[in-house]
Amino acid sequence: MFGIIGGSGLVKLAALNAPRRQVMRTPYGEPSGALTFGTLAGREIVFVARHGYGHTIAPHEINYRANIWALKELGVEGIFALSTVGGIRVDLVPRSLVVPHQVLDYTHSRVSTFLERGANAVTHIDFTQPYTQRLRQRLLDAAVHAGETVIDGAVYACVQGPRLETAAEVNRLERDGADIVGMTGMPEATLAREAELDYATLSVVVNHAAGRGDSKTRVELSQLDAVLGQSMVRAVRVLEFAVRGHA
Ligand code: HPA
Repeated sequence: MFGIIGGSGLVKLAALNAPRRQVMRTPYGEPSGALTFGTLAGREIVFVARHGYGHTIAPHEINYRANIWALKELGVEGIFALSTVGGIRVDLVPRSLVVPHQVLDYTHSRVSTFLERGANAVTHIDFTQPYTQRLRQRLLDAAVHAGETVIDGAVYACVQGPRLETAAEVNRLERDGADIVGMTGMPEATLAREAELDYATLSVVVNHAAGRGDSKTRVELSQLDAVLGQSMVRAVRVLEFAVRGHA
């Protein structure tokens, strides 16, 4: 059973058959909402909406630990995480779907580890490759089967938010090597690694990052919903093929 974490624009998986919801508690508090079980493309999955079902939880307020812990406890074989991002690299325009391969973390003041209590030695984890290649490849193969164009590889910069960036900040992110910018990729990916869960992200570009393209003078937030709605349908199609697998 795969776990799916939905981001903005995906608080509910309409494609889910026979859904049933289960409220869970964890040692780290409550996940963003009840976990929803059901079948997607004939495979059992469990879904959680990162921002809550009413989209009320801001990126810096998400209980990332509880979400990951709950999925671990349910014994998922891996996690597909959906996220929305701003595009920095010129080819990553609104509506692009992309499977990032690297992360830059600019978040702060988020609880970002399970490894804090009771351990008598500091424990480190390897994070050279923050995403699980096997699941990345599964998403990329799924895109081919779904007939959707998905870009292989991008450096995901995770910012604290909830405000968007200044144009100068986006320039700095680009100099740092970032291709896309979002607010929820971290510490989610770290926690999945600490919990020894395979994890990969499918990102939907919903706007040009601040100062770029048609966001030259401002990011037109009113336009994001339309882009998001159309693109999420395509992202979910890719997910359906990814959970089914074609190996
Ligand atoms: N910046 C940060 N996070 C985002 C953006 C952005 O431009 N678009 C969607 N999530």
